[in-house]
Amino acid sequence: MGVSIAGRSFLKLLDFSSDEIRYLIGLSADFKRLKRSGVPHRWLEGKNIVLLFEKTSTRTRCSFEVGGMDLGMGVTYLDPGSSQMGMKESIEDTARVLGRIYDGIEYRGFDQAIVEELAEKAGVPVWNGLTTQFHPTQMIADMLTVRERFGKFEGMKLTFFGDARNNVANSLMVVCAKLGMHFCACGPKENMPSEELVSTCRSIAAKTGGSVTLTDSVSEGAQNANVVYTDIWVSMGEPEELWEERIRLLSPYQVNAAVMEQAAEDAIFMHCLPSFHDTKTTIGTSIAQKYGICEMEVTDEVFESSRSVVFDEAENRMHSIKAIMYATLK
Ligand code: CP
Ligand code: NVA
Repeated sequence: MGVSIAGRSFLKLLDFSSDEIRYLIGLSADFKRLKRSGVPHRWLEGKNIVLLFEKTSTRTRCSFEVGGMDLGMGVTYLDPGSSQMGMKESIEDTARVLGRIYDGIEYRGFDQAIVEELAEKAGVPVWNGLTTQFHPTQMIADMLTVRERFGKFEGMKLTFFGDARNNVANSLMVVCAKLGMHFCACGPKENMPSEELVSTCRSIAAKTGGSVTLTDSVSEGAQNANVVYTDIWVSMGEPEELWEERIRLLSPYQVNAAVMEQAAEDAIFMHCLPSFHDTKTTIGTSIAQKYGICEMEVTDEVFESSRSVVFDEAENRMHSIKAIMYATLK
């Protein structure tokens, strides 16, 4: 029997088997081919979805909007400022109302418990568009990008440099374990993923042939890495005051030419974006004025290099989010 995830929510990758994750990656590639060759695929005509954002977004919001419209669906975008959500109506009540009106709900916000509660109460599939703990839709796009470059997952080493306990790092550890990859978290001891999640991922990896390593040594992290991955040093929802400490703690883990030099010969650089690789942003400019640094988690040189696949990842967000919506709503 083929894989089906129809009717399910997409909250975190721990809820999905390796086969289900591979199925979503394959479906994303199929949608990419359809889109690129201009073949219409309005396969969910008549359905409607709502996007609840409690944090800002470019890629995730646009991917859900364009993906939903390409599938023929009606799409509503709600931010906290334009709905009753949060101020006058609880997430739980909002979910019960929206579940009566819409066929699917996307949520981006804070604690994972909120999106889990939404899914429990809404009665329709709920998709996690990023929480403090996880960013699962990003993973399907990232693994599609890895597959496009290397044609396989098993045995590949992916090292995450920097704030290795944030939502993206946590999710990468899970997806690598599920796909038989070697995940390495490279950063200071203070910024390592929780012991509980590490131990869960190690048990998964033991069955798939993958592994999970934690290290504070840049050379150990970089050595033979096929994928060098990093993310912003202070995530959405964290206080601004953290910048100073994070710059001090994480600067040794910046992805630069020396790191890429130690990685595998054909290594690629990945980043979920947005990225501070120059000072062309308000925050980038103010950090440069305050701390005298013009690049943070990745140098402009690496970001702009031929090894960087960051814009493939960004495009793949749309194809993979479309696959996730289709697979759960069809
Ligand atoms: N990578 C990602 O989730 O980007 P946005 O914050 O722009 O959605
Ligand atoms: N860790 C980042 C990811 C952004 C896509 C954040 O949560 O802000």
